[in-house]
Amino acid sequence: MVTSTLACDMKLTMKKKETQLTQSILGCVLMLFVIQATAAQAGTAPGDIRYSREGDVETESFPPSVFQHWVHRIQYRCDACHDSLFEMKQGSTPVTMDLMKEGKVCGTCHNGELAFGATLQNCNRCHVSPVE
Ligand code: HEC
Ligand code: HEC
Ligand code: HEC
Repeated sequence: MVTSTLACDMKLTMKKKETQLTQSILGCVLMLFVIQATAAQAGTAPGDIRYSREGDVETESFPPSVFQHWVHRIQYRCDACHDSLFEMKQGSTPVTMDLMKEGKVCGTCHNGELAFGATLQNCNRCHVSPVE
């Protein structure tokens, strides 16, 4: 941002004619747009993903899992998970405890080695009741 603004200033003082001035102002504005667009693309991960288990009577009373992007972004880049493990669309990748036990989806890491596994004392680290 700072360097590009400087570059714009220099362009402005160097050009004399009014038409050229207008052109370079337009150029600077365009440049700022491009920079902003790039920043948006590099993007930040969305916040918490709360899984849904609607209509599953058997497990209804047990809170669905939460996945917090920010906790994982401390150690991983997007491509640790996207799209090899998870699609970038909420609800698109099926996750079950059986898949996790096979070392798939969350269980790729949550296996008691890379990260805490699905043992009894850990259930409620993922299965958090929503704050009412
Ligand atoms: C540790 C794994 C992991 C990492 C790292 C990760 N994500 Fe995700 N992401 C997920 C999971 C899990 C979901 C939910 C997928 C689902 O519901 O099927 C998700 C969903 C998403 C979605 C869809 C959100 C929606 O509402 O549909 C976007 C967008 C996304 N991630 C972007 C990113 C970006 C950008 C980064 C890096 C800055 C990133 N993710 C890093 C695991 C990860
Ligand atoms: C690393 C996070 C994590 C841990 C730890 C974890 N789960 Fe899960 N669990 C999930 C995710 C993600 C799902 C799929 C979304 C949902 O249904 O909540 C799931 C699904 C479930 C389901 C729905 C049915 C099924 O099998 O998919 C039950 C029941 C369940 N978990 C129970 C448990 C119990 C009991 C423990 C502790 C022994 C546990 N979970 C530990 C993440 C976890
Ligand atoms: C690429 C590896 C990886 C994947 C995939 C992954 N996690 Fe994690 N997760 C970690 C690591 C590493 C930590 C932090 C270390 C720890 O606490 O053991 C963590 C922390 C968490 C925490 C924070 C718990 C707390 O008490 O602070 C939750 C909740 C969690 N993961 C849920 C999930 C769920 C649900 C999925 C699947 C949808 C998932 N993770 C997929 C590596 C992963």
